[in-house]
Amino acid sequence: MTENKKLKKWVEEMAEMCRPDQIYWCDGSQEEYDRLCDEAVARGSFIKLNEEKRPGSYLVRSDPADVARVEGRTFICSKREEDAGPTNNWMDPEKMKDTLRGHFKASMKGRTMYVIPYSMGPLGSEISHIGIELTDSIYVVTNMRIMTRMGQAVLDVLGAEGDFVKCLHSVGAPLAEGEKDVPWPCDANNKFISHFPEEKAIWSYGSGYGGNALLGKKCFALRIASAMAKEQGWMAEHMLILGITSPEGEKKYIAAAFPSACGKTNLAMLIPTLPGWKVETVGDDIAWMAFGKDGRLYAVNPEAGFFGVAPGTSMESNPNAMLSLTKNSIFTNVAMTPDGDVWWEGMTDEPPAKLTSWIGEEWTPDSDKLSSHPNARFTAPAAQCPVIDPNWENPTGVPISAILFGGRRPSVIPLIHQALSWQHGTFLGSIVSSERTAAAAGKVGVLRRDPMAMLPFCGYNMGDYFSHWLSIEGRTTPDKLPKIFYVNWFRKDAEGNWLWPGYGENSRVLKWVFERCNGSGNAVETPIGNVPALDAVDRTGLDISDQEMAALLTVDPELWLKEVESIREHYKTFGDKLPQGLKDELSSLEDRLLQAVKK
Ligand code: OXD
Ligand code: MN
Repeated sequence: MTENKKLKKWVEEMAEMCRPDQIYWCDGSQEEYDRLCDEAVARGSFIKLNEEKRPGSYLVRSDPADVARVEGRTFICSKREEDAGPTNNWMDPEKMKDTLRGHFKASMKGRTMYVIPYSMGPLGSEISHIGIELTDSIYVVTNMRIMTRMGQAVLDVLGAEGDFVKCLHSVGAPLAEGEKDVPWPCDANNKFISHFPEEKAIWSYGSGYGGNALLGKKCFALRIASAMAKEQGWMAEHMLILGITSPEGEKKYIAAAFPSACGKTNLAMLIPTLPGWKVETVGDDIAWMAFGKDGRLYAVNPEAGFFGVAPGTSMESNPNAMLSLTKNSIFTNVAMTPDGDVWWEGMTDEPPAKLTSWIGEEWTPDSDKLSSHPNARFTAPAAQCPVIDPNWENPTGVPISAILFGGRRPSVIPLIHQALSWQHGTFLGSIVSSERTAAAAGKVGVLRRDPMAMLPFCGYNMGDYFSHWLSIEGRTTPDKLPKIFYVNWFRKDAEGNWLWPGYGENSRVLKWVFERCNGSGNAVETPIGNVPALDAVDRTGLDISDQEMAALLTVDPELWLKEVESIREHYKTFGDKLPQGLKDELSSLEDRLLQAVKK
């Protein structure tokens, strides 16, 4: 329990509004988790999976109208509209609260309000922060226990005076006296994922799913935390963190930001094909970084689990993810095998002959529907990852030597290039983009700019966010700053074939990054930055010709001048909030390209 008066008062006030039948303070124990899972099974919400095949694990099927994050219903409610900026939905905080009070009023009737004390980041770390989520969903409680450090230990750290991020969540489905519950209650037509950055509060209503409801993840660890980080001089980023060790035993940590569907979890858990190299995982989605006493940036993974996309995950594509979810995991919207295990598209080459699909229908390989929802998820404890880094819970974090940005670009962008400075690296982050593939008819070549992969996750004006990035440089000396790189695993040849094999072979690119951080690794200077010399990326044992390598590394100034135009368009979005440093980088890039064209 707690002596924290602010917390007790807030819980009372919220209960007064939501009118739950009871309030339950979560202690975070295994016994509590098991009991809640049993209750969810009894209510028809969870299905216990075969204990022999998938010990301690459950399958959950959501309402088909509640299957993903809802960016259109996500709001940043700062007092001034300009503080939310051009890339967020804004609403006045008082107006939003008024609207939401209407929805939250008695929304927990017939249900329990669970109080979830949780820490984002290792308990007691100076980089960590505490949140309290109030929710009426057992799915949320059980997932939060996997995804965060949760329970009484957090209240002990919070103490009588500690501060916390206030997170209120309701599925928005009160039960009348005697009314039978549905397996996945929600209020699908009235979802609100609302953030109050000035108050450090989140009110989420109507959805029970993932990032909408597990408020520690995107809502707190990115949107609210990005605003806190700006105020307090640190960084909250949509980045994986990995440790890489050379055959000589030297270790470095790398953070990397990619838009969704670019293989972040795969990179975080990569198995190097280069002999003697080792990659270990600190986190697969979010990095909180702060300066250490030595002037370097140290990162923690604020999460304690993986909430990964299941379809496409296999022993081929990501064995370490598959091994992480062999037990004690929750699966959402995947298919079930007749013997009570799970399956999803891409898990095996041959689908099972018979399945129950994510909507609970009989499924065979002849079915014209997918067995699993494309955004089906696994929730697995990070500690179960076979390559979890020994320092993943180190309260000081891990020192970051390099930051990678990347996206899916079939053309223009080379396999890798290195920024010329921190400011230039910030510029590279600000232009992160993914190109739609031919699979989306009529949309080929359409770019979506997703600066620092934070477009849906920045809790304040993105122009101010760029300024914050630029200001990081002045907080230390240049030699202490991580080196910044831009990677593109997805370049294609004229026939549309991938030029780079990806997956474990990406270790070859990481090796060059590693070398560049040590001041070695051959590079050639191009107008866009430093690109590896033809032989600088280790191709030992890889069937890639000089010609193919050259194609992977080509920088075409004419195409890049077109890119400059597209960046200029993109930059218009930020109006006069676009910092001078980025304008300077864009014009220097243009100058260098024009010179290259003249030659
Ligand atoms: C995620 C995302 O779920 O980035 O991690 O969408
Ligand atoms: Mn993510």
